[in-house]
This record gives sequence, structure tokens and C-alpha cells, in this order.
Amino acid sequence: METRIFSNKDIEEAARILKTGGLVAFPTETVYGLGGNGLDKEAARKIYAAKGRPSDNPLILHVSKMEEVIPLVESVPEKAKLLMDSFWPGPLTLILKKSAIVPLESTGGLDTVALRCPDNALTLELIEKAGLPIAGPSANLSGSPSPTEASHVYHDLAGRIEGILDDGAVGIGVESTILDMSTERPTLLRPGAITLEDLTEVLGEKPDIDPTLLGKSMEDGFVPKAPGMKYRHYAPKAEMILFRTLEHKGAESKVRESMAKYLEEERGDSFQKKIAILCAEETKPLYQEMAEKKNIRLKILGRREDPLSMTHNLFRILRECDEEGINLILSESYPEEGVGFALMNRMKKAAGQKIILIK
Ligand code: TXA
Ligand code: MG
Repeated sequence: METRIFSNKDIEEAARILKTGGLVAFPTETVYGLGGNGLDKEAARKIYAAKGRPSDNPLILHVSKMEEVIPLVESVPEKAKLLMDSFWPGPLTLILKKSAIVPLESTGGLDTVALRCPDNALTLELIEKAGLPIAGPSANLSGSPSPTEASHVYHDLAGRIEGILDDGAVGIGVESTILDMSTERPTLLRPGAITLEDLTEVLGEKPDIDPTLLGKSMEDGFVPKAPGMKYRHYAPKAEMILFRTLEHKGAESKVRESMAKYLEEERGDSFQKKIAILCAEETKPLYQEMAEKKNIRLKILGRREDPLSMTHNLFRILRECDEEGINLILSESYPEEGVGFALMNRMKKAAGQKIILIK
């Protein structure tokens, strides 16, 4: 099939495709989604096939306003309402008990459903015109980094979907925060741009955190509650290693020294490899000489002081590394506070949890 590129003038046509069972990728403030009719099990099946995704991994249903949630769930608890009022449209996904009209094919067989109202004008209009909740996982092939530009979607899914609604590069660059509100206590399943601090302020208490987000591993019997979080996600083709110090401030040059030592001692042969170093604007000068001497690419994630500037670029840079044939990525680490929690969660996944701790 030919994959068409749609602009704001084609929303009617894109909505028609969704209504008649086709797939259209859509922009959001986080990453691009791969959309289909959220109430149609056949559309769900097509989404899994297009992504090459295991079908036990449930989809998020996207709505254009809070009222559209009501028929999709058993009930909306007061606290969930409060969160929707505070953060929708925005990068927060809530898990609630599903109603009978949501097919089990969309929820990976679970009796709960993930709901989100994305902050993108074109997509809100698309949902309204389609008159449906739009099921949408990130619009990448399963296992590769989520798409932050329409060209990434095209690269992964051309020929597999009917169209892509193009709205340029997204803002945030990592997927939404997921909060489980179907349990006794609100539980964070995936960190995102709505931070723990933001949630705590509205809920009046700190949500629980899925233990796997705090370093408890599946080998120790901890399975993440969001099924999608158990896969080696967001991964570039290259081997990626994170270098971290216990204290971040003042330890920047220690990180550089440790990378240099690693390359010389452990990887005597690896200078034949194509290597990239991921660092921040502030630390770039520390690496320049080493990069020139050893023919290493320097990739600037963003500003250390502003983790959102780094989430914005992360997945694009990982894709760039793939395209340039990079096979080893060495990266700095950043504090896991605020949005830094989401940034480091994705970076650790990209690295397959390979971290060198510097004393
Ligand atoms: O920002 C986002 O959330 C993007 C945009 C397109 O909205 N979407 C996204 O979808 O990241 P996806 O499918 O790549 O990730 C959804 C995550 C998966 O880890 C999935 O396992 C989890 O949400 N999830 C979905 N429904 C769930 C449920 N009922 N219970 C627990 N986890 C659920
Ligand atoms: Mg995804």
C-alpha cells in the first residue's frame, strides 16, 4: 500500500480512513502515534501487525476531551478526574478499569484501559472528526526508538499504513507519563514529562512507583506492570554504555576520563569501530579534543540544566547514530530528578541497563 503524507488540510480524509478501519499515524506533544479505531478489534490486530509488536502489549486510547472517557471505563474516580482537569490535554496517560465496549484485543487481554488526551491541535481535531477513541502505540517498529518526526514514521512504517499526519517535530520527545489509577494506590508505571512532583502536588500524596523503575530487575522476579516496559525498547542498533558518577555536579571531567580509559583499556580494538559520545552543551568542550584525535562523533543532547531539551533530542540522535552506522555509543548520565527521571529511564533502556559506575 502507498503511505500518504497528510497535512492540516487533509484531516477530514484521515478521519475517514480511521472510521473505515485503516491506520493513520498522528502527531502528539510526546512522540508520533500509530492510530486506528480503538473500538475495533480488527484495527487493533492491524496495528500489532504493522508495528511487529507482541499482542500482549496493550494500546493507549486517545480522546479529545474528558467526557469521551466515560463510555470507555467502569467509572472515573475523583482523583483521576482531578488529574485530567490539571494535566489534559497533556502528556499524562491514566489506567482505569475498562467498560465492555473496549475490546480485549486493544488492551492486550487486560480488564483495564490506558487513556490519554494528547496536546496537539491537529490530532484533537482528527479524533473529533473521526468520532472515535484512537488506539495508538508509538509509531515505530517494535524495538526501535519512538518517532519524533514524521520522517521517522515513514522510515519505519512506509507501505504498512495508509497515511501519516505530519505536524513537524514533536516538543517533548519521550512518551507520556503513565499512572495506574485502577489500583488502591496511584502507581507510576512509566515516567514522562509530567513528573512525580507534578502528580504529588495534585494528588496530595506521592504515588507509588513500579519497583522496576527503581532498578529492581526482572531477574529478581519483578515484572513491570506496564507490559511494554519489559521489552528492550528505544534501542539503537549500536551497543550503548552509560557512564555515571554518584554526584553529578563537579564530576564532569571524571566521566570523560573514565570514557577515555574504557576505550584504551577494555576496548583496545574498538577504535576500528565507529564511536559516538553523547554529552551536553555545557560539557561539549571537555570532549572536543578527544573526539578529534580519535575520530569520535560528538552528539549534543541538550542543556544539562534543562532535561526537556535533552528528551526533545534523544530519540532523534539515537536514530541518527543508526543511520551513520555507529556501533558504540558512550554517554554521560544526568540527575534522575524531575523530567530527568524520564530521560534516564529511556537512556538506561537504550543502553540495555549497561552502566559503568565511576567511584
Ligand atoms: O506518549 C505516549 O504515550 C505515546 C503517544 C503516541 O501517545 N504512546 C505510547 O504508546 O507511548 P506505547 O504503546 O508505545 O506505550 C504504551 C505503554 C506500554 O508500555 C503499555 O504496556 C502500557 O502503556 N499500557 C497500555 N495499557 C496498559 C494497561 N491497561 N495497563 C498497564 N500498562 C498499559
Ligand atoms: Mg512504544
